[in-house]
Amino acid sequence: MAELREVQITEEKPLLPGHTPEVAKEAELAARILLDQGQTHSVETPYGSVTFTVYGTPKPKRPAILTYHDVGLNYKSCFQPLFQFGDMQEIIQNFVRVHVDAPGMEEGAPVFPLGYQYPSLDQLADMIPCILQYLNFSAVIGVGAGAGAYVLSRYALTHPDTVEGLVLINIDPNAKGWMDWAAHKLTGLTSSIPEMILGHLFSQEELSGNSELIQKYRNIITHAPNLENIELYWNSYNNRRDLNLERGGAVTLKCPVMLVVGDQAPHEDAVVSREFWGGRGRVGVLGWWSEGYLAKRQALFGTGRATVGPKRLIPGKNKMGMGLMGKELGSGSLGPLEGRGRREYNVIHSASCLHQVECNSKLDPTQTSFLKMADSGGQPQLTQPGKLTEAFKYFLQGMGYMASSCMTRLSRSRTASLTSAASIDGNRSRSRTLSQSSESGTLPSGPPGHTMEVSC
Ligand code: BEZ
Repeated sequence: MAELREVQITEEKPLLPGHTPEVAKEAELAARILLDQGQTHSVETPYGSVTFTVYGTPKPKRPAILTYHDVGLNYKSCFQPLFQFGDMQEIIQNFVRVHVDAPGMEEGAPVFPLGYQYPSLDQLADMIPCILQYLNFSAVIGVGAGAGAYVLSRYALTHPDTVEGLVLINIDPNAKGWMDWAAHKLTGLTSSIPEMILGHLFSQEELSGNSELIQKYRNIITHAPNLENIELYWNSYNNRRDLNLERGGAVTLKCPVMLVVGDQAPHEDAVVSREFWGGRGRVGVLGWWSEGYLAKRQALFGTGRATVGPKRLIPGKNKMGMGLMGKELGSGSLGPLEGRGRREYNVIHSASCLHQVECNSKLDPTQTSFLKMADSGGQPQLTQPGKLTEAFKYFLQGMGYMASSCMTRLSRSRTASLTSAASIDGNRSRSRTLSQSSESGTLPSGPPGHTMEVSC
């Protein structure tokens, strides 16, 4: 038999002849992503077993990034597009990632037996210490979406010393009010569980547009082999209790928080109000609004400002939708429904957006950034991973983790502009909106420590 000899191969030519360094870098990234398959583990907790997948290696003195997904999804369907996004690699090569699957949501999960007591969202949060203990990790930066954002917030409230930062996408910190329940029950009469969950994840506009993304997620959820388990997580979400956040009070998030909401976040329990405007201002309000609606609107728009009416809404320009108790009936451009003297508008506010705004108003303004993302639909981490990555980098940089050399040119130029913006403004004590829209060209404000609100 021929003897095996060790042969040394020296590559003298570039591996990708004719390709630019950028292309070679992309190829290297793609190879790294392919190689890092993640390690899946399960641990027993007082509330049952929980599965999580770890990517990368722990970095000394760095927290792990820990993700928690929304209802109807698992860690992959919720976060893969974000974590595998090209620019995200700059971030994740510096952090180990722990992606938690809510019980019964992991790939291949068996269906729970009938009568299985699924953990409440609070209990899901109480499972996290078992994961960290198993991995011997002492601190995390949480990234959560929807129900997962709630779970991570609850965990941060009970274990503040272990959470260095939170990215909360589409969080609703409130328990369902009776109006929300009524709407939920009504929707349940005519809609299947997958449809209700799709309505929680995406806006009606997105769902009726039926893009490839929607088709993909509709298919995933409708044909999920663990649909019964998904329904249990959905029920736990709907039965969540209030986080009871209070600014400056005992119950508040102590770490830097980035609140993220899509501009077309679902109107699952959106409200419609019919507002009548006379020549001299509002003369009446009629219609449905959910509990706390006026307080929420006040939080969103402030007091004493005409927010809906001839002065601020431009007929034919402002986009609006019309809906009633959780059912969106249509959408179109704003225009007076009745002319002459008395103008009537149907106004819909995305409840999801209001929840974030309300959440923002309850958090420490010096620690909170609020990011409202344009053209992102209900799931910004799926539709706008680039924007979210950039905001995340900026957030981490504010926490002292990303050197500015790691930031994109765009981020760096924004940071520079921010510094001057902050100095003009002096000591800001309240949140503000950073309009980063292409039309306005306004720039975002400072890092955590100066609350920022971004519309991008
Ligand atoms: C990660 O690298 O963290 C990751 C990879 C695949 C899916 C989700 C996350």
